[in-house]
Amino acid sequence: MNIALYPGSFDPITNGHLDILQRARKLFDQVIVAVAENAEKDPTFSLEERKRLVEENVTHFDNVSVESFNCLLVDHAQKKNAVALVRGLRAVSDFEYEFQMAQMNRHLDPKIETVFLMPNEKYFFTSSHLLKLVNRYGGEIDELIPANALHALRSRFAKKSVSEG
Ligand code: PNS
Repeated sequence: MNIALYPGSFDPITNGHLDILQRARKLFDQVIVAVAENAEKDPTFSLEERKRLVEENVTHFDNVSVESFNCLLVDHAQKKNAVALVRGLRAVSDFEYEFQMAQMNRHLDPKIETVFLMPNEKYFFTSSHLLKLVNRYGGEIDELIPANALHALRSRFAKKSVSEG
C-alpha cells in the first residue's frame, strides 16, 4: 500500500489545498493530511482548529485521514510508512522554498520522495496568507475557500474588530 503524507500549516485550509488533495488521493492508496503545529509561523488558528477545519472537508474521501504533528516531517513520514510527501506548486515563486525543503527532506531520508502537484489554474494565486489578508479588508473570497474555513475566518476577524475597538 502506497501511503503519502500531505503536510502543511493549513491556516486555514483553502480550495487550493482541497484541489491538491483530490489529485493526490487518485495517485496514492492512502493520503494522510499532516497538519503541522508550526509554532514559528504564529498561526491564526490553533492546531486543533486547523485540524478540524480540514477534517470537516474530507469526511467523504475514503482514503484520506487527518493528523497533526509536531516533529520533523520526515520523522512523521517514517512513523507512518509514507513513501512520498505531497506539496502543491502554484507559481515560480513557490519553487525556491519548495526546492530547499525537498532537498533537505531528501538529505534527511533519501527513501522518501517529494511529489509536486499543480492545482487547477483558478487556484494559482490562492494562499491561506492572501485569503486572510483579503478577508480582513472585506474582499470576496467565497469561491476560494471552503465554507467552514470562511466562517471561521469571518468570526475571527469580527472578534478582532470588536477587540480592536
Ligand atoms: O503550509 P506550509 O506552512 O508551507 O507547510 C510547511 C511545512 C509544515 C511542510 C514545513 O514547515 C514542515 O515540514 N514543518 C515540520 C518541521 C520540519 O520538518 N521542518 C524542516 C522541513 S525541511
